[in-house]
Amino acid sequence: MNLCTVFVTGGAGFIGSALIRLLIAESDWRIVNIDKLTYAGNLESLAMLSDNPRYVFSHTDICDRAMLDRLFIEWQPAGVIHLAAESHVDRSILGPADFIQTNIVGTYTLLEATRAYWSALPEKDKTSFRFHHVSTDEVYGSLCTQELFTEITPYRPNSPYSASKASSDHLARAWQHTYGLPVLITNCSNNYGPYQFPEKLVPLMILNALQGKVLPIYGKGDNVRDWLNVDDHARALHLVFSKGVPGETYNIGGNSEKTNLEVVDTLCNLLDEMQARPDGRSYREQKTFVADRPGHDRRYAIDATKIERDLGWKPQESFTSGMRKTVAWYLANADWIEHVVSGEYRHWLKQNYSNRIAA
Ligand code: NAD
Ligand code: TYD
Repeated sequence: MNLCTVFVTGGAGFIGSALIRLLIAESDWRIVNIDKLTYAGNLESLAMLSDNPRYVFSHTDICDRAMLDRLFIEWQPAGVIHLAAESHVDRSILGPADFIQTNIVGTYTLLEATRAYWSALPEKDKTSFRFHHVSTDEVYGSLCTQELFTEITPYRPNSPYSASKASSDHLARAWQHTYGLPVLITNCSNNYGPYQFPEKLVPLMILNALQGKVLPIYGKGDNVRDWLNVDDHARALHLVFSKGVPGETYNIGGNSEKTNLEVVDTLCNLLDEMQARPDGRSYREQKTFVADRPGHDRRYAIDATKIERDLGWKPQESFTSGMRKTVAWYLANADWIEHVVSGEYRHWLKQNYSNRIAA
């Protein structure tokens, strides 16, 4: 029997690797992971699949059209799930160029390579083909009232990161509208869980706490994010890719709004319980208020009614259970952390945030 092949871009990253682990376990597809391996990509997150005959890695930049064309000819995929991106807001503020290149030019290049391949498919395969563009709730901007982001909330991106993701959403949508490419778009809230690069809030706080460093809280720590466990996001992506209606957007969220201070206190309390400080004091004492992020979005919150109603998706993990498992994972996986916090990342940190470097 011929295996159905699906391309996943950005599969060596935090969410992409969770998705590939899920798809290998829960589908019978062959997965081709297309990843440039930037500082954020780490193949150790997929080490358990290295001998799996249904898993293939291609070290490829999504801006490289010739290479993408070769991959399409070689593997004849039934669809693409596109996660490759520059993903960290602080980096986008310090240097937007890579965000424009990968998130906008890269998505455009991938859409064009996909279109060239898709246009030549037999009618039946053309109809069943899917291009799933994975995006963020940050494209909607910042909420000040009690309202929630829905799929029809107007786009109002504020950071270079969210503006580049909004651009890529628009490109994906236009390729559906103009060329008929069967596109799905998902916009998800903040993810947390294992294998997240330790520059984002949750892993950074866990690591800094354990290393006795400050826990830098931007502004007053009262900005709000809606937190979702990464495996719940991966389950939602699998469902949308398999059952979503082309041309539709689906918002994905955890219904779990927390201020940054609430998140950091939760992590400190869990660490106090699971790996107490040698001096017996609380990790909360390491909290330090630092200068706010320029243009810091106040609040994000998702209304996930549509994906629940139309596709039957609901998060399985609560914030409490998910954070507990996440802290336990970081405590048990010091090796993974040590390996990722090296090389280019340390260099970048040293240049921009010398106070956060481990001794
Ligand atoms: P990540 O930074 O952990 O991983 C990104 C991956 O993309 C890395 O493996 C990197 O090597 C790869 N990559 C970067 N540039 C590339 C290029 N030019 N060609 C090929 N590969 C390239 O990101 P993540 O947190 O896993 O996010 C994945 C996707 O989900 C992104 O599109 C992001 O915008 C979106 N998203 C993230 C969150 C979140 O909370 N992390 C929430 C909603 C949506
Ligand atoms: P982050 O994990 O960078 O995700 P995003 O900016 O995409 O939401 O940040 C989550 C929140 O935590 C955001 O409001 C910024 C804040 N934050 C801090 O207070 N301190 C930090 O060191 C970091 C990285 C983030």
